[in-house]
Amino acid sequence: MGFGKGLATGLAIVWLFAGVANAAPDRLAPTGHWTAVATGQASTPPMGWNSWNAFHTDVTEQKVLDSAKAIVDSGLAAKGYRYINLDDGWWLKRRASDGRMIVRTAIFPSAAVGGAEETSFRPFTDRIHAMGLKAGIYSDIGANNCSQAFGGPDTPNLPEGTVAEREVGLYGHIDQDIKLYFGDWAFDYIKVDACGIRAFGADSAKVKSGLYRALDPLIDTKEIRRTDIPAVRALYQQVADALHHTNPDNDYIFSICAWGSADVRAWAKDVGNVSRTSDDITPSWTRMLANFDSAVGRSLYAHPGSWNDPDMLFIGHGDFDEHHLTEARSHFALWSMLSAPLLIGYDLRQAPQPLMDILGNSDIIAVDQDAAGNQAVLAYDTDDIQILVKTLANGHKAVAIFNRGLAPAEVTLTAHHLKFDGNTPVTLKDLWDGHALPAFSGETRMHLEPRQTLIFDAAGTRSLSDGLYLSEMTGRVNPAVDGVVTPQPDPTIHRMITPWGGTTDTGEPPAYTGWGGAQADATPYRQMLRIYGTAYETGLGVLSNSRLEVKADGQFRRFVAEVGVDDSTFDADDDVTFSVYGDGKLLTTSKAMRFGQPAQTLTADVTGVRIVELVARGKAGKNKTPTVVTWGNAALLNK
Ligand code: GLA
Repeated sequence: MGFGKGLATGLAIVWLFAGVANAAPDRLAPTGHWTAVATGQASTPPMGWNSWNAFHTDVTEQKVLDSAKAIVDSGLAAKGYRYINLDDGWWLKRRASDGRMIVRTAIFPSAAVGGAEETSFRPFTDRIHAMGLKAGIYSDIGANNCSQAFGGPDTPNLPEGTVAEREVGLYGHIDQDIKLYFGDWAFDYIKVDACGIRAFGADSAKVKSGLYRALDPLIDTKEIRRTDIPAVRALYQQVADALHHTNPDNDYIFSICAWGSADVRAWAKDVGNVSRTSDDITPSWTRMLANFDSAVGRSLYAHPGSWNDPDMLFIGHGDFDEHHLTEARSHFALWSMLSAPLLIGYDLRQAPQPLMDILGNSDIIAVDQDAAGNQAVLAYDTDDIQILVKTLANGHKAVAIFNRGLAPAEVTLTAHHLKFDGNTPVTLKDLWDGHALPAFSGETRMHLEPRQTLIFDAAGTRSLSDGLYLSEMTGRVNPAVDGVVTPQPDPTIHRMITPWGGTTDTGEPPAYTGWGGAQADATPYRQMLRIYGTAYETGLGVLSNSRLEVKADGQFRRFVAEVGVDDSTFDADDDVTFSVYGDGKLLTTSKAMRFGQPAQTLTADVTGVRIVELVARGKAGKNKTPTVVTWGNAALLNK
């Protein structure tokens, strides 16, 4: 090579790198990594007890310790309920001299280790730990908290002191507080609420009256466009970083409580271990349904390490008390199918046995805690009946048949719902009572009482015998980039007003954005997957300009899918290229595909590949009007 040519090549390379350095990062470029959260202790959804639904802020050390003791004595601890979590109400104030948090010793007497302003939760956590349990604490990402925002004159245990002393949230104190809670006080779990960045605007009544200092709201729960999504995420990321630094042993759980606002659906899985998908549950059937709905369409956003949280259990209260065992059972079965945290919110000192039996059903707990971490996928979703199917680590399916309505229902369960072969026997074990049902082929009829949930372990011959459909392994699929550019409220979630409002409120529902996110066995708008008239009952539906990470873990030989622009697309003019990467290297690419063209089959050898990435890239690189794309019959095969 002559000197001149070498120089020219060198210059070209310099120019190329300069170009790359200046360009915005290409979010669709494969990383070869799993980018959702894998730190913390949440390989399965957390289980335990939380003080809020049982006592609200009227909490005491004795009540918590008694509940912890009941968890151990009843055998629930041995079944996995191990986190004993304090919620709102524990704090007295933030010490003026140095900002150290002070515990309210009137209700947590063991915290009085020194003078009036010298407190420690260490004696309390020591006792919890001595019982073989783990301890959780509660804070807020803003300066003030939820009971300060929403409590009335009768709310007990509100923080005391000057305006500054009553600023008990993490805002401005993230590192200091996390170090105190996890380093000095030895907590193992933290739930971080978000009222402080939602309810203390300069025009709020309590701020105007001088009770609290103003903090410009970052969250508007009703208008996503008035929410500063990156700022909210950045604050929670600071907590995640602090937790990471303070817990070199990785023994912590980080629960994000932003109630489905701030587009947490898209990013919380990359920041925390658990993320609330909705406003607070109440002990009412319809509110439980709304919370269930807020999570049920988000299967692809839950994985070992990071789970959807439709809120804590309300078993024991209201529509879920001992006089409503059908409803209580449904609540429990549905939460288990969702791989939701199982956090009891009941005063266990007085729990009737039938409720303890529900909470202690080992077979249903095992569904929640299944190691594969696949949140159930809707196999049927019409009228009052929903059928949810969760692929278990051993290849069986957990199937829940749910009657939301007030009339009894006759339901046909098919092998097809289970992705099982219809010509070979399917066996069902009833997880409520352990009974085996007679084997069926093809389909079987079931009777459901109003509001009943039947839940079974199903074993059969898989219709895909030599691998797994990606929609059967949602716990291993991470929508790293799902193509949603403009977050929109999910219209399939019933319009509940906030539990703190009433009919004199505006009646505006909160905006649980998530509409258009990636879906298993449906389009992002929950329609049938369909390319050029061919329907796919199995596959992943997503928008273009998306990148899905799939944990193959070197266990498969081949990736296959039939890809194309979905017939339900909004943008019918886009050209979309589908590419498959293995550990960051391109394995195969489709031709540019348009609406109205038949699917193209993509296959790739993924032998030894740990992370498969599925990238659908549209012409503009960003969706103005969404292009809906389908990875039909997408599967990882063993041969
Ligand atoms: C918010 C949370 C609840 C509970 C209360 C405490 O409403 O969503 O789970 O922690 O605050 O005030």
